[in-house]
Amino acid sequence: MTAPALTWENDSNLKINDVEFYVAYTSEELHGINSTVDRFLLGKSRSMIEKVVAMLGGHTIGNVFEMGIFKGGSVVLYDQLFQPNKIVAVEFMPKPVQALAQYIAKHGNPDRIKPYYGVNQADRRTMQKILFSEFPNRDIDIIVDDASHLYEETREAFNIAFPFLKPGGHYVIEDWAWAHWSGDLWQKDNPHFGGKRALSNLLIELFMLAASRCDLIEEIFVNHNFIIVKRGVTALPQSDFDLGRHYLLRGKHFGAWL
Ligand SMILES: C[S@@+](CC[C@H](N)C(=O)[O-])C[C@H]1O[C@@H](n2cnc3c(N)ncnc32)[C@H](O)[C@@H]1O
Repeated sequence: MTAPALTWENDSNLKINDVEFYVAYTSEELHGINSTVDRFLLGKSRSMIEKVVAMLGGHTIGNVFEMGIFKGGSVVLYDQLFQPNKIVAVEFMPKPVQALAQYIAKHGNPDRIKPYYGVNQADRRTMQKILFSEFPNRDIDIIVDDASHLYEETREAFNIAFPFLKPGGHYVIEDWAWAHWSGDLWQKDNPHFGGKRALSNLLIELFMLAASRCDLIEEIFVNHNFIIVKRGVTALPQSDFDLGRHYLLRGKHFGAWL
C-alpha cells in the first residue's frame, strides 16, 4: 500500500487527505486545545510521526488496536495513514470524544472505528473481552500503546494484547524513555511519574525475551521516542501470557531495578 501524503504547513499543522491535525506535546497545548471534526489535536511531535510513517507506512494494515485515545487525534491519524479495515481503541477517561464520534459518523460504517471509554489498559478482564470480541482471529497488524506509560500497566497491557497480534505484526510503545529525558520536569519530582518505576524496565524485559525467544519476538527497533516490537511466528496462549515466564536469566529473577 502507498502511504498517503503528509502535508506539513509547519511543525504543528499537518494535513492528510481532507483532515487537519494540530500536532502538540506541551502540557499547556494538550490540555488547552480541543479537537473538532475537521481539526484533531494530536499528542505527538512531527519527527515522531515522520519516523512512524517511514517505518510502518508502506505496510498493508488490516487491523489496528490503540491504547490512549485522549482527544481522538491518533485514532484519526492511523485511520488516515493506514486506511485499515478496523481500528479499535481504549481510553481510561469515561467521557466520549465528541469530535471522534462525529468523524466516525462522517466516515461511514460505525463498526470500522470503535472507541471504548472508561477502560484501564491493565484491566485484564475488560481488555480481553474487547479483544476477543473485536479480533476473534487474533489478527491485529499494529498495536499502539500511548496510554499510561507506567511500567506495571504497560507490562500488563503487553501481556494481554501481544497474543492478539498476528505473526509479523508490530507492537509500538510510545514515550518509553520518560525517566531518562533531560530537564527538571523529568529528572526531579514529576507530578505524574514521580515515584513510579521507569518504563525502561519493560524494555529490558523485552530485549531479554527477544534474546531468549526469537520465535516470540523476531526483532526490536528502538529510538528515544518509541519502541517497535515485531512479533515472531509461534502461537501464544490466548489468556495467560506473561513475558516474564519466557526469557532466560540463568535462574535469576528480574526485579525492575530502575
Ligand atoms: C498521551 S495521551 C494519548 C495521546 C493520543 N494517543 C494522541 O496521540 O493524540 C494518553 C492517554 O491515555 C489515557 N490513559 C492513561 N492511563 C491509562 C490506562 N491505564 N488505561 C487506558 N488509558 C489510559 C489518558 O487518559 C490519556 O487520554
